[in-house]
Amino acid sequence: TTVLVVNGPNLGRLGVRQPDVYGKQDLAELTRLCTQWGQDLGLTVEVRQTDDEAEMIGWMHEAADNGNPVVMNPAAFTHYSYGLADAAHMVGDAGLPLMEVHISNPSARDEFRKRSVISAVATGTITGLGFYGYRLALEAVAELIRQ
Ligand code: DQA
Repeated sequence: TTVLVVNGPNLGRLGVRQPDVYGKQDLAELTRLCTQWGQDLGLTVEVRQTDDEAEMIGWMHEAADNGNPVVMNPAAFTHYSYGLADAAHMVGDAGLPLMEVHISNPSARDEFRKRSVISAVATGTITGLGFYGYRLALEAVAELIRQ
């Protein structure tokens, strides 16, 4: 099984963007870790990042059509993209797990971060645990597809 690990806007800036909030490790390191964690779990992992909402939506169509479980950090799209939420819904409709991950704990931050339009269509959500959240999400995917 190939799991798509998709990251939304500004996550290509990990390492330089608010390291106090998102840590000092960059996207290349996250990619390396997710690939390794996937291997440990018997999953092929493909890590992607985009600043483009349309591209992210296209990846959900691809996942639904090709049967890929998804680990998604929707970044700022989390808070307003009904288009991405509808696309994520289709992944669920295809019977595939979709785990929502946030590096920080958005509930402990700005008011606008307290609402996620993705959570309602996600299988589950992991927040506030840094890059480790991606590991937990991959473990959840492995368990869910085993069941
Ligand atoms: C984030 C939290 C979002 O509120 C923010 O817009 C991000 C990253 C996180 O990983 O903590 O870009 O999804």
